[in-house]
Order: sequence, then structure tokens, then C-alpha cells
Amino acid sequence: MKQYDLVVIGSGPAGYVAAIRAGQLGFKTAIIEKDKTLGGTCLNVGCIPSKALLNSSEKYHDAKHELAGHGISASGVKIDIKKMIARKDEVVGKLTGGVAFLMKKNKVDVINGFGSLEGEGVVAIDGKATLKAEHILLAAGSTPIELPFAKYDHKVVIDSTDALALDKVPAKMVVIGAGVIGLEMGSVWGRLGCDVTLVDIAERPVAVMDKDLGKESEKLFKKQGLKFKLGAKVVSVDVKGAKAKVKIDIGGKEEILDADKVLVAVGRRAFTESLTLDKAGVAYDERGVIETGHHGQTNVKGVYAIGDCVKGPMLAHKGEEEGVACVERIAGIAGHVNYDCIPWVVYTEPEIAGVGKTEEEAKEGGRAVNVGKFPFQANGRALAMGAADGFVKIIADKETDRVLGVHIIGKNASEMIAEAAVAMEFSASAEDIARSVHAHPTMSEATKEAALAVDGRALHS
Ligand code: NAI
Repeated sequence: MKQYDLVVIGSGPAGYVAAIRAGQLGFKTAIIEKDKTLGGTCLNVGCIPSKALLNSSEKYHDAKHELAGHGISASGVKIDIKKMIARKDEVVGKLTGGVAFLMKKNKVDVINGFGSLEGEGVVAIDGKATLKAEHILLAAGSTPIELPFAKYDHKVVIDSTDALALDKVPAKMVVIGAGVIGLEMGSVWGRLGCDVTLVDIAERPVAVMDKDLGKESEKLFKKQGLKFKLGAKVVSVDVKGAKAKVKIDIGGKEEILDADKVLVAVGRRAFTESLTLDKAGVAYDERGVIETGHHGQTNVKGVYAIGDCVKGPMLAHKGEEEGVACVERIAGIAGHVNYDCIPWVVYTEPEIAGVGKTEEEAKEGGRAVNVGKFPFQANGRALAMGAADGFVKIIADKETDRVLGVHIIGKNASEMIAEAAVAMEFSASAEDIARSVHAHPTMSEATKEAALAVDGRALHS
């Protein structure tokens, strides 16, 4: 059996980034991937392809609805879905190929097959004990949750992977779950002309985000034509031929929603059932989430786990950081992940992003807070770009002024949130942000103004 210092199972952002770092640190490393291409959910059927389609659909929407306002007329605007999907596939191909290149560059052996545990220090490939490893890193990711009454047939009842590869715009789509995937994929197909209804048991979209942003996003998405059935329980999904009837219970009243596609986006679950964790005695909870202590260490010496198959938000960048920290710890270097400072983004238009505590969380934690808000309507750059929707909201400790959370809804929020994450990583006060010079005219001036507003002295509102 070939011997490695480190064998990584799973080549998503958590696994492949860990493998790169291991290569840099001189570990003899192998990475095992069951799929034909590297990159996992994020690169193949998640973050990257959805962003490609979000961008294409936004351009179509702009051409049809926004350009006229800039004095540009465009007639005969049409969609070629096949081309749009092919472009997305090309982007994915470039990036997955890029990961393969990075594996080579860092002398990481790539093994195609299904990795699982075979007892102490042994990894099986497709069920056959094949490799010995001093350290084994589990980064097997997650998979969409299936609803018992709406089983995926991948034709009418679809998951997020299917929603990235439709060959035509459906007339009507019902999305079960107004979370991150629901909003992003609902936006893509809604912009392309589909009648989209999002159903959620929660009272607002992406219920975990700051309440103010939840309310604002619902208002803005409704203006864009997305329909919401919130506080609604899905009772049944009946598929007949190429159509479905979705029965929902909303406030005790039943309603039937017709659909050509039913996208189920009610969350993802750790994909660990095939790792044969029991063979190595690795502990996991009733949902299959691998239990880890500090820096990815499982209960078994030499076995670690990171990314979507452990606790915490299912975000590519969280997995990447965990991978780097875990490998650095194995190498005796001081790797670390600050779980209080992980930004998250919903890539709709406008984008929604946050880092740190929401106002509700900060208050529930018994903190007295000051809140500063600044609308993009009062930001020159936003107005010039026709992006006046949304605001920046900063939550700071009343006593110390330390920034506890920053939440942004607006164009380019995904890029703007980086400033907030860095500021919080450096334990900044709102005053620190307020006194930092921000280039004019930029949307990030709204962050500075929100920081000034924490102390009631915003300049432009
Ligand atoms: P999610 O957790 O964001 O949203 C699921 C929604 O489904 C929730 O609002 C929940 O209330 C609702 N729900 C659950 N059961 C339901 C039921 N039976 N009927 C009606 N509604 C129900 O999960 P989502 O959107 O599926 O995304 C999965 C994971 O992927 C998330 O952890 C997310 O962080 C990650 N992701 C991240 C992205 C990003 O960073 N931009 C993009 C896409 C996914």
C-alpha cells in the first residue's frame, strides 16, 4: 500500500485548499475525489455556476429593463439558454482545470474514486484498502436535503444542481425554501421570465439574517416580481406528467400552486454516510455531522474533518479556512479560524452580505448596542450606477464602540463586506471605520457613513 503523510477525502474548497497547504508544507499528500472533476459542489454545481448564471440573467434583465433608463435602446433582446448554460459550463471547466493544475504544482497525487475509512491509518478507494496515511482529512461535503413528500425525480421535482442546467425557461416554478439557494436560483429563472413563487415555513426570506435586511430584501424581491408564500407549510407535491401541484397551508388556509418545476432548497446535509466512519470509530451525530474538537480533530487520533461535513455554516470559505488551519496544526504551526468573523453573502441583486452578530443576536446576548444605518440612496456612486436600493447597518457595543456586526444589502455587498470582516478581525471600533479615509465616489463610503451614524453624526443624511 502506498504511504502518505496526508490523505484528503473530497476535493471541494475545504479539501483541495487543505491539500495545497499540505503540499506547501512538504507533506506527501493525496486527494481522493469521487467525481470526474475536482472542486466539489462549489466549483461544479454550486457557487461558481450559480454566479455565472446570475451574471448572465442579470445582463438579460438589464438589457430588457434597465438600459432604457440610461438612454440606450435595445430591441429584439433574446435568450439563448443553451449558450448561457454552455458559458457557465466553460467557466466551471476553467476553474476545475485550474484546481487540477494547482494539485500538480503542489505535488499532490489526485486519485479518482470513492474514498472511505478502513480502520487505523488506512483509506479505501472504491471499497478496497489502498492507501496508508499518517493523517486523514475528511472533507466530504454536503448534499441537498430531500423532502419525503417531494422526492427528487430530477425532471419536475429538482434540486439546485438540476436548476443550474435547465434547457429552457419554465413557465412556473415553485421553490420550497426561501433561503440562499431559493433566492439565488429563483432570481436567475425569474429574471429570465419564469413566474417564481417561493414558499417557506419561516416568516421572512433567509430567516437567519438581520431582521432589517430580511424585510428590505422581501420588499425588493417582490418589486422584481418574485412571489412569496411565507409562514407556509408545504402539505404535498403531486406530480402528473410534466407538471406539479404544490399544496400549501398558509395561516390555516389551503392553497394549490401550479408548477412546471418544483425546486426543493430546504438546506443541505453532511454527506458522510459513505465514509464508513464506524470502521475507524469516528464519532458523528444523528444527522451525520462529524464531531470535531479544535482545528478539525475528530475523536480518533490522526483523523480530522472540515467543511460542510462538520458543524458550522456551509460556506466554501469557512471550509477553506478550516482546511488551512487544520493542516497547519498538523505541521505544528499556529493555524486558527475565527468563527465570529465569517462573512456570508447572498448573490442576488441587490446582494445581501453580513459578518458578525445581527442586531437581534447582539441584544439577545445581553449587549447594549448602538446601531448606525446609511442608505445607498444618499450615496453618490450608488445613484450614478442606478443602484440606490439598500443600506449598510453597523452594530457596535454601546460601551466600547467595538463593531459586533455589519450587514449590507446593496449592489456589490459581496465585495464591500470584506472591509467589515477585516475591521472586525482587527477588533475595530465603529470610530476606527468612521475615521478611515474611503475613496470618493464609492459605495464603500456608505460603510463609513454607517459607522459615523453609530455615533449619530453621519454627514450625508
Ligand atoms: P438555507 O438553510 O439557506 O434555506 C433553507 C430554507 O428552507 C429556510 O429558509 C427554511 O426555513 C426553509 N425550509 C426548511 N424546510 C422547509 C419546508 N419543509 N417547507 C418550507 N420551507 C422549508 O438552505 P439552502 O438555500 O438550501 O442552501 C443550502 C446551504 O448551501 C446553506 O447552508 C447555504 O449557506 C449554502 N449556500 C450558500 C450560498 C452562498 O454562500 N451564497 C449559495 C447557495 C448555498
